[in-house]
Amino acid sequence: MARATSRSAFAQPAGGGSKPGYFAIGSANALHGLDVAIGNMRDGMRPVEAAVAGVQLTEDNPDDHSVGLGGLPNEDGIVELDASVMDGPSHKCGAVGALRDICHASAVALRVMDLTDHVLLVGEGARRFAVEQGFPVENLLTDAARNEWQKWKAELSPNDNRLAPPTEPRGGGAPPEFTWGTITLMAMNEAGDLGGTTSTSGRSYKIPGRVGDSPVIGAGLYLDNEVGGCGSTGRGEANLINCSCFAVVELMRQGRTPEEAAREVLARIAKKCEPRLRNARGEPDYQLKLYAMRKDGLVGGAIMRDKGDVAVHDGTHSRLIPLPAIYT
Ligand code: GLY
Repeated sequence: MARATSRSAFAQPAGGGSKPGYFAIGSANALHGLDVAIGNMRDGMRPVEAAVAGVQLTEDNPDDHSVGLGGLPNEDGIVELDASVMDGPSHKCGAVGALRDICHASAVALRVMDLTDHVLLVGEGARRFAVEQGFPVENLLTDAARNEWQKWKAELSPNDNRLAPPTEPRGGGAPPEFTWGTITLMAMNEAGDLGGTTSTSGRSYKIPGRVGDSPVIGAGLYLDNEVGGCGSTGRGEANLINCSCFAVVELMRQGRTPEEAAREVLARIAKKCEPRLRNARGEPDYQLKLYAMRKDGLVGGAIMRDKGDVAVHDGTHSRLIPLPAIYT
């Protein structure tokens, strides 16, 4: 096992640590959305709404195959989206799972939180709710995503089972650009109130109806206004069985930094990883990233394998910081 031993990239707190102000954190594909979120909070928007506005840039981007328009579809070639939102001051949440034909899944989740007595709507019920709320209905499968799906389908064999994740090309050709992509964004205003969202098209070529971690509070998103918050991207099944984001927030409550908490949770997940998902060295052979922010503005995170970045905004400018890896 190759443990990352380098000095923490977060040794100098990107967000000041104990300094009041506007902060935001997210996955690398949320970098530009952080500027939107910070600007909207300065204009008085709730952090949770500002986070949703920030991820809409990416939900609208047909070239990001991990979320919204252009997301890679399920095994039937249909894009199904998952998203959740969480609001710090009210400790309320909203979420949608396996939502079809509606691009802004995070905004639908926000309406679930604000306008209903429920937390999670799925499938046709989620779609009907979105349509009732006036969200436009559109085909989210772009030509580029359809091409990738058709390549995947062409490589299927009648002997395939549904256990092996399609991480390697079968029969040649380039692997799909994304298989587990997602966007997550968390924002905090000057009053120290938090809000966040996670939005995704989920695991590509999934079984129709598969719901991942992103709409499950505690798995792909969690925050506590007294402590901080955590969002995640990567293999959703790993977060679903480990309540990863909830665990990170609870460790921060006990005094861990965001990086320490994220590393500890990834190490726990690695320890419990089932054998079929390990590589020849016995390490989890999938990607998982945790992005965390503490109430004092200290930000951090960790990545299961290799390289990846977290996007941070300290109220002045946004930048990418490398995440420390558990396995390199
Ligand atoms: N983390 C995204 C998913 O697995 O659905």
